[in-house]
Amino acid sequence: MNEHSPSHIKETVMPLGACEPSEEQKDGAEIADTTCARAPIGLLAELTHRCPLQCPYCSNPVELERANTELTTEEWQSVMRQAAELGILQIHLSGGEPTARRDVVDIIKAASECGLYTNLITAAVLLKREQLEKLKEAGLDHVQISIQDTDARPENADRIGGYKGGSAKKKVVAGWVRELGLPLTINAPIHRHNVDNVAGIINYAVELGADRVEIAHVQYYAWALMNRASLMPTREQFNESAKIVEKAREDLKGIIVIDSVVPDYYAKYPKPCMGGWGRGIINITPSGRVLPCHASESITGLDFDNIRDKPLAEIWLNGDAFQKYRGTDWMKEPCRTCPRHEIDFGGCRCQAFALTGDAANTDPACSLSPLHEQWAKVADVESHNASPEFVYRRPGGASRKPGMQKSPATSEA
Ligand code: SF4
Ligand code: FES
Repeated sequence: MNEHSPSHIKETVMPLGACEPSEEQKDGAEIADTTCARAPIGLLAELTHRCPLQCPYCSNPVELERANTELTTEEWQSVMRQAAELGILQIHLSGGEPTARRDVVDIIKAASECGLYTNLITAAVLLKREQLEKLKEAGLDHVQISIQDTDARPENADRIGGYKGGSAKKKVVAGWVRELGLPLTINAPIHRHNVDNVAGIINYAVELGADRVEIAHVQYYAWALMNRASLMPTREQFNESAKIVEKAREDLKGIIVIDSVVPDYYAKYPKPCMGGWGRGIINITPSGRVLPCHASESITGLDFDNIRDKPLAEIWLNGDAFQKYRGTDWMKEPCRTCPRHEIDFGGCRCQAFALTGDAANTDPACSLSPLHEQWAKVADVESHNASPEFVYRRPGGASRKPGMQKSPATSEA
């Protein structure tokens, strides 16, 4: 999980009856009969790719979408209604920075009126107290704030995010969230520039009044893959951080929930990325492209539909990109005959594509992949070399200079 990932999507089996076409579907869309879809659980709405921060591990694509291509307020409101009709339970409003859009209140109101649970995934530096109050009035259910490090190390936090004063502002906003009685999750992407402070980060989340903290080792896609040599911790550092998390779980039981995401490179088996492709999650980009996963545009040859052209239900059920790796029929060996293939679904398709050139290959994170050893060795070498400077996330091109923005980016809906 990286900066914009929802940290608490829970797996729940929700049969859609998708193989029973509705009257509308009988008239229009043909239901593909290869693999039945079930109702998705969550929708990640990337309202905009604009963001005042420039984190070098951002999960957004390297080619960021421009503001003038973004869905309008009405289009996002329609997405919310369609999501509710489809049986989706949770909406994760993300970006970029979702509060960079002035209409975020109207979008949350539309979602809430349809009975959807809304989670705002924010870097928090643009938020004003009055805006947060309006979001709560509109029905916002939960806030997730990302941090780069603790307030005891603000220079490090601001250097990582490429935003001066960000650390201090996040602390203020976390206070407002608690004062307004909203549940708070702190999301901390972990890498070699803060892995030495995992205990401090957990304690800081407690101090901020968070209900949950996610110690989320960076996943190496998109910007993070570009910055892998700068970000990869050593295996020893990872092991130490895992011990700290275990102990903190015991010590802080009943005080805070601690989730952790392991770096793929040091795992034995891969994670079931996205809970399985086309199985529970939909991602919509700022311009309306509907994706099975936030990074799936990195896989060449997939055909993505746009919400401007087709209803959400039709895309979910029959869209080429969703069908391509749904279920298990597409798997090659060793996944095809592996007893774990319905547990982890062969790992991550985007990572398999990035590292092997074929998204249907076993994710090299798996120790059963023929490429695993070679891949783990790369991580070992990179993590022991000196860290190169970050390549910062920037619209219009990567940069080794953070630019250190001082004032918030102007917000345009
Ligand atoms: Fe999972 Fe495939 Fe590895 Fe088996 S071989 S554990 S299904 S990734
Ligand atoms: Fe796309 Fe894992 S990031 S499937």
